[in-house]
Amino acid sequence: MKNAQRPTPNATPAGPMPITVEDVSFTYPSGTHALRGVSLRIAPGEAMAIVGENGAGKTTLVKHLNGLLKPSQGRVLVGDWDTREHSVAKTAARVGYVFQNPDDQIVERTVGDEVGFGPKQLGRTEAERAADVAAALALVELSDYAKTHPYDLTTAQRKLVTLASVLAMRTPILIFDEPTMGQDARGLALIGGIVERLKGEGRTVLTITHDIDFCAAHFGRVVVMADGQVLADGAAADVLARAELLATTNVEPPQLVRLAQALRLPRAALTVDGFVETLQGSRGAGGQG
Ligand SMILES: Nc1ncnc2c1ncn2[C@@H]1O[C@H](COP(=O)(O)OP(=O)(O)OP(=O)(O)O)[C@@H](O)[C@H]1O
Ligand SMILES: [Mg+2]
Repeated sequence: MKNAQRPTPNATPAGPMPITVEDVSFTYPSGTHALRGVSLRIAPGEAMAIVGENGAGKTTLVKHLNGLLKPSQGRVLVGDWDTREHSVAKTAARVGYVFQNPDDQIVERTVGDEVGFGPKQLGRTEAERAADVAAALALVELSDYAKTHPYDLTTAQRKLVTLASVLAMRTPILIFDEPTMGQDARGLALIGGIVERLKGEGRTVLTITHDIDFCAAHFGRVVVMADGQVLADGAAADVLARAELLATTNVEPPQLVRLAQALRLPRAALTVDGFVETLQGSRGAGGQG
């Protein structure tokens, strides 16, 4: 299973493409109904975060986007491919998925081999692979660890290794499942910078996160999930301002949104600059002080 999402040889990385999730339901063999009629369209180049309480179905949903799981009902299209009609290995050349738990993803004995595995399976030459690995390790600031065994690194570093593995494949769509978990401030800034870079390249970046400030800082669209369903889907500024809705699925609004609401500002803001602007505007209008 660990190797299930490894790409097949000679698969060519593709250009930008949409993802379409049509009325997807999924039931695990245990009988748990993890998804119940989820529909979403994700445009090429979109930056979208999925939030929601533990067990809401977030990981189950994204595993459908790279074909690791196939719908019990409904369908998922990656570009023009129905995931049920293509192997996970083929779909992995289009959609890179960084697992929630890095230890579910890592199979190789050195960091360099781990990061080079995908490019190798994609049929890239040794020189291309070396360049892909070097570039990806530089992005996660682990260039000095290419010869290290992944299990000699911390969990936070292993998470960065798995991120690099997906970056090295240069897929048009990337999914990060809880990328900031266990990261310190430096790791957080690093991952935020990588997300911004990918957005700048026009790639689709999807994340699942419990870190709502990370979500607010980098993702323009937010989907809220609860009990296998989409509870809300829209612009981050709108969705993250809906405190009551977020509370129903145990998501706390970003600090700036809570501060704006406590000050009774007319609008919520997701950035410090936006907040200051709103505050000054409301003062200028004779509002709060
Ligand atoms: N392999 C599995 N077999 C059976 N049930 C599973 C499996 N994986 C997840 N589930 C169940 O499916 C539901 C959705 O789980 P999922 O992992 O998608 O949630 P999540 O939103 O990613 O949660 P978390 O925030 O804790 O990662 C939960 O009830 C979970 O217990
Ligand atoms: Mg999960």
